[in-house]
Amino acid sequence: MGVYAKYIFPRLLDWTLGSAPMGRFRRRALEPATGNTLEIGFGTGLNLPHYPAAVSKLTVIDSEDMLRERVARRIAECPIPVVRMQLDAQGCLPFDDHAFDSVVTTFTLCSIADTAPALAEIRRVLKPGGRFIFFEHGRSDDAEVARRQDRFNPLQKIIGVGCNMNRKIDELIAAGGFRIVELERFLMPETPRLLSEMYRGIAEPQTFRG
Ligand SMILES: C[S@@+](CC[C@H](N)C(=O)[O-])C[C@H]1O[C@@H](n2cnc3c(N)ncnc32)[C@H](O)[C@@H]1O
Repeated sequence: MGVYAKYIFPRLLDWTLGSAPMGRFRRRALEPATGNTLEIGFGTGLNLPHYPAAVSKLTVIDSEDMLRERVARRIAECPIPVVRMQLDAQGCLPFDDHAFDSVVTTFTLCSIADTAPALAEIRRVLKPGGRFIFFEHGRSDDAEVARRQDRFNPLQKIIGVGCNMNRKIDELIAAGGFRIVELERFLMPETPRLLSEMYRGIAEPQTFRG
């Protein structure tokens, strides 16, 4: 991993995604989380202060180990018990089937290189009727904006260390075997247009009857 990805990007991420207004959006997105909760793509722990009291335990995973001391401090300050693991969400996760009441991703489905195996694991570890809670940026419904997102995506993948700005998040989740039960689309204020297309919602694992 290069100097930019290892030292500069985590600080940039923490600064840009850690603003007070962003905190209010995070709190709103995390409201439906309950019980035993898994967060994928934990990053620098910016969601920790925003989980509702209904969450009894947090397991947080990320493929990277960023800003170790800052993150340890945030975990220590969190009133909910937190178990942190360094894991690639594209692999088999070391959790039982139906282990979690909620699974959370925020600003993460843009960055996981292959979302299909990660979504399959989310489905597997969620209880039937459990909730996949997502707060993500992605592709615009405006064709002209989407065209520009496609054009600048290669650059974004470099600057954002693997982040894609042109993924249609709701379609991705549905294709992963989920039924979207709530979806809010809006533009994040004071954010460059190509990165401001937000998808906030809840999805439930589809049950297939054969
Ligand atoms: C843009 S950051 C968002 C961090 C955090 N979720 C937030 O809201 O501030 C994306 C995160 O996804 C993580 N990530 C990317 N690919 C991953 C994978 N395959 N498995 C687990 N985490 C991954 C990155 O390391 C990074 O921490």
